[in-house]
Amino acid sequence: MKGDIGVIGLAVMGQNLILNMNDRGFKVVAFNRTTSKVDDFLNGAAKGTNIIGAYSLQDLVDKLEKPRKIMMMVRAGSVVDEFIGQLVPLLDEGDIIIDGGNANYPDSTRRTKELAAQGIRFIGAGVSGGEEGARNGPSIMPGGDESAWPEIKPIFQAIAAKTPQGEPCCDWVGRDGAGHFVKMVHNGIEYGDMQLICEAYQFMKDGLGLSYDEMHRIFKEWNQTELDSYLIEITADILGYQDEGGEPLVEKILDTAGQKGTGKWTGINALDLGIPLTLISESVFARCVSAFKEQRVEAGKLFGKTITPVGGDKTEWVNALRQALLASKIISYAQGFMLIREASEVNDWALNYGNTALLWREGCIIRSAFLGNIRDAYAANPDLVFLGADPYFKGVLENCLPAWRKVVAKAIECGIAMPCMASAITFLDGYTTERLPANLLQAQRDYFGAHTYERTDKPRGEFFHTNWTGKGGDTASTTYDI
Ligand code: 6PG
Repeated sequence: MKGDIGVIGLAVMGQNLILNMNDRGFKVVAFNRTTSKVDDFLNGAAKGTNIIGAYSLQDLVDKLEKPRKIMMMVRAGSVVDEFIGQLVPLLDEGDIIIDGGNANYPDSTRRTKELAAQGIRFIGAGVSGGEEGARNGPSIMPGGDESAWPEIKPIFQAIAAKTPQGEPCCDWVGRDGAGHFVKMVHNGIEYGDMQLICEAYQFMKDGLGLSYDEMHRIFKEWNQTELDSYLIEITADILGYQDEGGEPLVEKILDTAGQKGTGKWTGINALDLGIPLTLISESVFARCVSAFKEQRVEAGKLFGKTITPVGGDKTEWVNALRQALLASKIISYAQGFMLIREASEVNDWALNYGNTALLWREGCIIRSAFLGNIRDAYAANPDLVFLGADPYFKGVLENCLPAWRKVVAKAIECGIAMPCMASAITFLDGYTTERLPANLLQAQRDYFGAHTYERTDKPRGEFFHTNWTGKGGDTASTTYDI
């Protein structure tokens, strides 16, 4: 009997996905470029399973049922194109190639089109959940050639995580690179959530002077509230983790964050599409600042930097901090969904926002109870433009606002960097302000560059230029917005 699906790449994600597929009754053919890894896998984690090994791409292709389904779990970028180049001559029309890595979505759009021209169906599927998710149920975000979806749907939905109501956290996202786009935004949100948690941690540690024991307990408690999520849960675990000497391990970890690029891509896309994705962008920059370790040490000495302890009732502060984190998180997701909406419209993807929240409800790194509320918000109003306008989220934002302001103001007063919580409140303040100072900005543009302006007392679309100094000409520059 031939295999149902082939998987290329036996690193941690590949191996665990294969084992998950095997558990669900699918026959998987496993291949790795360094073929000794195939034997290691078959004699190790895959021992006693129905998993078949392949020792060349031809061998892999020969061992698969038609239409062949081959999923690549390899490093994003040129390696994917190399494998595609080698596979295509071995495949038949209608066969399916799936990229389950963290591809940049324009690459998936290109691959869908290039492969379609050669009669091969391409799926770019975002897979989230790390090792444990891959093994027990990841969130999967497939996009690309829709005709291939019915072929892979039974496998993907069987191995995916399930919501508390039993729905699979895997459904068709949209054509071209839509699946990888949604995965990219997921990762951007992941960056934002992580940075928000880090800001709360620093406020507790350096502002309130709480011990690791106390912080461990607080995050555990927070996980019983609306903040219930995987990232809060693992943070509680991390803060409670002690090394061999009984010291908190996290204290000994160098404070320079790495990044593989998906957060940066999210920010770049937001700038390209004109979406104020301020919180996620700040979270990317926060990682950049953290990476300047030597510079920070120098600058800290230069400025004699200290953090002033936060005075007052610690329990009250912790509660305020929880509200600041929750409200900021709402803004982050609101901005993320604004980006998804814009990309969907610009690319004509017809994305379903409620379903996107459902895909992230379980299995992935940002999984949380909160995503269930987002799903409900879009179910009630599929055209919701600003998540904060949904009655539930509006209520939470309003409720948290006083504490949120207090925390951000205190952090600034005490010298605790809080880029994400501060940018979130600044966004809400700007977004809810009927009249911003952009009138002055337009005047400045018109003053130095004759860029023109619209007037409050005239209809929109009518543009005016003033000769501000009496020395300029009457010629206005053309009016256009990027
Ligand atoms: C997931 C994660 C994963 C990502 C890592 C690394 O959804 O399982 O997002 O896809 O590769 O989290 O991201 P950074 O190295 O950029 O932090």
